[in-house]
Amino acid sequence: MIVQNVLRLIGNTPLVRLDRISDNKVNIYGKLEFMLPGGSVKDRSAYQVIQDAYQSKRLKEGQWVVEMTSGNMGAGLALVCKQFGNPFIAVMPKGNSPERIKIIRSLGAEVILTDQVNGFQGQVTGKDIAYAMKVAEDYAADHKGFYVDQFNNPSSLKAHFETTGPEIWNDLPDLDAFVASIGTGGTFLGISKFLKSINSKIKCIAVEPENAAILKTGEIKNPKHIIQGTGYGLIPPHWDQSLADEIITVADPEVEQMTKKLCFEQGLYVGYSSGANVMAAVKYARAHVKAKNIVTILCDTGYKYSNL
Ligand SMILES: Cc1ncc(COP(=O)(O)O)c(C=O)c1O
Repeated sequence: MIVQNVLRLIGNTPLVRLDRISDNKVNIYGKLEFMLPGGSVKDRSAYQVIQDAYQSKRLKEGQWVVEMTSGNMGAGLALVCKQFGNPFIAVMPKGNSPERIKIIRSLGAEVILTDQVNGFQGQVTGKDIAYAMKVAEDYAADHKGFYVDQFNNPSSLKAHFETTGPEIWNDLPDLDAFVASIGTGGTFLGISKFLKSINSKIKCIAVEPENAAILKTGEIKNPKHIIQGTGYGLIPPHWDQSLADEIITVADPEVEQMTKKLCFEQGLYVGYSSGANVMAAVKYARAHVKAKNIVTILCDTGYKYSNL
């Protein structure tokens, strides 16, 4: 395969049957989003956000793009902005892993590190993120830049409605259930909306950390967990409860174990949200013995984590 531009690599990821996790009763498939050029599912959102901003004339060549990001959206935006000819600044709380900061800088973007309000190295809290968001918004205003605002920006949901959902459907029309964890919710909401528009019988399952299951329980017992990029302890602005047939919670130890199983046994070097998704898919399969084909997302590469 030859492509003319790195942006053409964003999309069309394969579905792989997880043969070390599936059995003769159920097939669990992982969609390999970590194979995208920025190493995560967020490349799709980044590409769509920038295309939509150009189309609506909120962004033009040479103009600054600014976003608060703890990693994956930053890597996606860094490579997409380079292609479009826009300088990109990622605003990140200091507690993020050095790997993530390095990846974004290595992709040609600038990084502003903000002080933490109440978190510490390796643990970024909601308050740290809110403060970094404010810095990013102010920076964009001062530099007449385009502030991406991924939680409120509808382009992410659109990317998954128009690309990821149809890809899953084309590859596996016979699916019973789709499972995904929630950060901004773009992945879960966009794909679920598409799949249900084609076949309302497909069950869509959201995944949350056990102690920060705000969508399922309305409360946060402990905001800290290992599933980076998800479970922020807030209800995403575009959240639509009618798309979630069930919400399955997962605890850190089982997520860690499943992530390691995917790496050691399945040959897929992925991060913790992938482990969380597969763990939830297994729980769904146990509770719904008639389900034959379950699809979930392998969100990002294990190279982004220092302890994997
Ligand atoms: C590692 C990882 N997994 C899952 C997600 C969730 O994606 P979304 O924001 O589409 O809900 C993210 C989002 O940044 C992420 O970084």
